Amino acid sequence: MPEIIITENQIHLRNDRISYVIGILEGGIAAHLYFGRRVEAFNPASVLRRWGCAEDGSFDPQNCALNHVPQEYPSYGLGDMREGALIVRAADGTASADLRFVSTTVEDGKYGLPGLPAAFGDGAKTLRLQLRDELLGLNVTLLYAIFDDCDIIARSALFHNASSRPLSLERAASLCLDLPDDRWDLVTLSGDWARERDVIRRRLTPGEMSVSSVRGASSLLASPFAALARPETTEAAGEVIAAALVYSGSFYAGAEVGSRHAVRLQLGLNDRHFGWLLQPGETFAAPEAVLTWSDRGFDGMSAQFHRLCAAHVVRGKFAHAPRPILLNNWEATYFGFDEEKLLTIARKAAEVGVELFVLDDGWFGHRDADNSSLGDWVVDRRKLPNGLKSLGEKVHALGLKLGLWFEPEMISPDSDLYRAHPEYAMQIRGRTPITGRNQLILDLSRADVQDFVYHAVADILRENPIDYVKWDMNRNFSNVGSLALPLERMRELPHRYMLGLYGVLEKLQAEFPDVLFESCSSGGGRFDLGMLYYMPQTWCSDNTDALCRCRIQWGTSLVFPPFAMGSHVSAVPNHQTGRVTPIRTRANVAMSGCFGFELDLNKLPESEIEEVKAVITRVKELRETLLYGDFHRLLSPFEGHDTAWITVSPDKREAVLMFTRDLAQPDTDQPMLTLRGLDPALTYTVAETGEAYTGAELMASGLCVALPWGDAASVSLTLRAQ
Ligand code: DGJ
Repeated sequence: MPEIIITENQIHLRNDRISYVIGILEGGIAAHLYFGRRVEAFNPASVLRRWGCAEDGSFDPQNCALNHVPQEYPSYGLGDMREGALIVRAADGTASADLRFVSTTVEDGKYGLPGLPAAFGDGAKTLRLQLRDELLGLNVTLLYAIFDDCDIIARSALFHNASSRPLSLERAASLCLDLPDDRWDLVTLSGDWARERDVIRRRLTPGEMSVSSVRGASSLLASPFAALARPETTEAAGEVIAAALVYSGSFYAGAEVGSRHAVRLQLGLNDRHFGWLLQPGETFAAPEAVLTWSDRGFDGMSAQFHRLCAAHVVRGKFAHAPRPILLNNWEATYFGFDEEKLLTIARKAAEVGVELFVLDDGWFGHRDADNSSLGDWVVDRRKLPNGLKSLGEKVHALGLKLGLWFEPEMISPDSDLYRAHPEYAMQIRGRTPITGRNQLILDLSRADVQDFVYHAVADILRENPIDYVKWDMNRNFSNVGSLALPLERMRELPHRYMLGLYGVLEKLQAEFPDVLFESCSSGGGRFDLGMLYYMPQTWCSDNTDALCRCRIQWGTSLVFPPFAMGSHVSAVPNHQTGRVTPIRTRANVAMSGCFGFELDLNKLPESEIEEVKAVITRVKELRETLLYGDFHRLLSPFEGHDTAWITVSPDKREAVLMFTRDLAQPDTDQPMLTLRGLDPALTYTVAETGEAYTGAELMASGLCVALPWGDAASVSLTLRAQ
């Protein structure tokens, strides 16, 4: 079990591998003393000397000394010149906060955050560190949880106005971590549509470096994640401190190098999209952030995040279930389908062993293009004259499950919903709302809109045999205004939107536990731990080109495990890049996630159909390992022509190795792949070649994998312990 040890002036959270130490300095400042490998005891003298505080923890707060104190939750306005975690404006218009220690409580179990996604589960302990600003009458509770089975510290903060006057939160970070030196690289995941989550690594330099979103979604451009890695850190070795938000809206994640080379890492709501009026007696909860430390490089970091996702983030019966192999009709038909066309595609899918047929966009209203009908969730009888129920029955009769696409957060100006309820759209009074993909965003801060969205989806799920929902969201915020919020609460809209959305998702999850939900946002534009709490898988990217996918899935895997990533085989020439890659390559890359297809299999030549059948049989056999095994990245597509990764079953008896090369090289240039994650003492047989090696050999000398001839060549090998 993890421990939280409270001694005079010190709080020590630890499990078998990590320690997090907080000191209470003279005057009651909560100081950050240490985060890293487990230690038995912590003498703060040295670290306080490094920071420039007196070794006994005394300092002179009247002399701007806070600028040189490592703090757990620094605030703006009283001598700390760095970016604070808290900005709170008092009724007199000034902004300052002076948080001093009040008390601690320790509980068994993991704290929850009402209305917000948060890690959960057994084997955790929670610390509530109570701070108070006497003048403001503001109580701040810093929440920390430490887990038994993963090296993660979860953090959040609660703000309670115990005064008789309103307070206004202008910033309320989820996590702040002060570190005593700046010899770190900042690693973030940044991208765009169809090239999500490129790994960006840059040396920290003085000032601020960050990624952020004011798009109302975590976004295609940046993930709510930041890691600090030592310059010498590699995949396999070296120190990393990393954090991610359990949140899906606008965010900030960044590091600031300040005076004396100290570093402050912060993650939380983006203040450009945030403000919160705290009336007397009210409490506000910051979204959760999760923090990890590894001295086993990025591999060690990802292992912790993956374990967290599997054991403490994804809920429900699909958290550890064989995800169905699906076929989605989007790239096969776009908007141009009818029942017979769908059934023709579904029949072929069933024949080769697909398990779930997903009907994507275009089945409702009169949606023949992306310019209408969002909000009118009524089946289009021109395309489906017999309705969804009948389609479901026919698809089920083929032995397939049926999935359905929704984009519930949106409203088309050309929709009955908009004609009846223009006030449902997010908008600024007096301005013509700006559309994106010809659509507006529903104002989910409104209770009536939340109700509408919930019923729109729930009614269809109740009335039709739907087994899976693809929940899409295809534009980002503009016209950030609500006709229902009063002036003094307008800044709350982006966060209220997320709370509204989470509330709807919570109700749907509770009512439809047997429906598998997949999140999507123009591909992977809302791939975050917040969405994973409600939906166990996320569509990784609209880009299904196998070579692009090597990069996208590599970057995604820094935080997210294979079972969270939707990854499909699509047609060639690829619809995003025009590239032609072999079917085997597309399948090898796609099977390292929630496997599926994005094409009409009737259009494949018979030779490829045979290959598809074989791949499906193999995926079914290896699915447990592929989805829930330990994922290790081996060769990075960001560093050369090759991508390799391996997934190893938890008992280490089975592994699947994937190796893809984008541009052909002479066959004298085959690398030795040094594998990871195997049991050195076991002997593994490579099923495809019959060769046998010990785990020790494979992880020391490596395996030379012969690739087929030509560009975009790929091999996937199965290793089994004898
Ligand atoms: C964007 C998604 O990423 C696609 O997969 C598809 O569902 C389209 N939306 C449909 O409009």
